[in-house]
Amino acid sequence: MGDVLVAATGLQKSFGDRVILKNVDFGMALGDITVIIGKSGSGKSTLLRAIAGLTDPDEGTIAFDGRVVFEEGERTDDWADVESHVGMVFQSYTLWPHMDVLGNMTLAPRKRLKLSASEAADRAEVALGEVGMAHHLRSRPSQLSGGERQRVAIARALMMQPKLLLCDEITSALDPPVAAEVLDVLRRLKAEEGLAVALVTHDMAFAAKAADRLVFFHEGEIAVNTTPDEAFNRSTNPDLKKFVDAVRF
Ligand SMILES: Nc1ncnc2c1ncn2[C@@H]1O[C@H](COP(=O)(O)OP(=O)(O)OP(=O)(O)O)[C@@H](O)[C@H]1O
Ligand SMILES: [Mg+2]
Repeated sequence: MGDVLVAATGLQKSFGDRVILKNVDFGMALGDITVIIGKSGSGKSTLLRAIAGLTDPDEGTIAFDGRVVFEEGERTDDWADVESHVGMVFQSYTLWPHMDVLGNMTLAPRKRLKLSASEAADRAEVALGEVGMAHHLRSRPSQLSGGERQRVAIARALMMQPKLLLCDEITSALDPPVAAEVLDVLRRLKAEEGLAVALVTHDMAFAAKAADRLVFFHEGEIAVNTTPDEAFNRSTNPDLKKFVDAVRF
């Protein structure tokens, strides 16, 4: 296991009177892919969104690279420095249809990092190269397959040179060989760039292949946090067993 990048402790989050995150302790290390599985509605996306700063927990602490970025219900001043090191990729590709790949990739970084057009374009070429899409700089999203679009979405997240990549069901709309290609991209990024990657998925074969750490989320709590081998082959947690049996084909 590499250096700890993210350490979240005691995260609590309610929507109305429903408690969605119940005292969650969660960590991620550089160079690790952490796969999060669990029933629909168990709070997986809420956890990723809390770490990404898209939603604020009610209680708990989040530290990034040893700096506290969230405590006592709010983001600290350090969050502003750290925010750009967190990239998030969603299930739907969220690319603008009226812009080519270059435009999609450079829009936000040009504003946020104040890059010139040519600096942003250079960075886009490098990021696309990392996901094997360098030849698609001028393609429109509609000209790309689902797997290609998802690789562009990953490359777009790489534009900010993140240390952490949060991926929420990014292969759900892809068939297995294409999902495997996307997984190869993530594996290469963690190995070559040393990124910490968190991956939510409902695909257990994909989870078993991808994970360095396997987290099973159950009713807002981390019920199991171990290696994928242990989780899928030796865990005695009854909720995990039931969940895995229910989704096994
Ligand atoms: N902004 C919100 N307002 C109210 N309720 C919400 C909000 N976001 C999430 N929830 C609720 O919190 C619960 C957990 O949602 P979450 O999206 O984290 O689940 P999940 O584990 O990602 O599920 P899935 O596998 O279906 O994506 C759900 O019951 C959801 O309806
Ligand atoms: Mg979700």
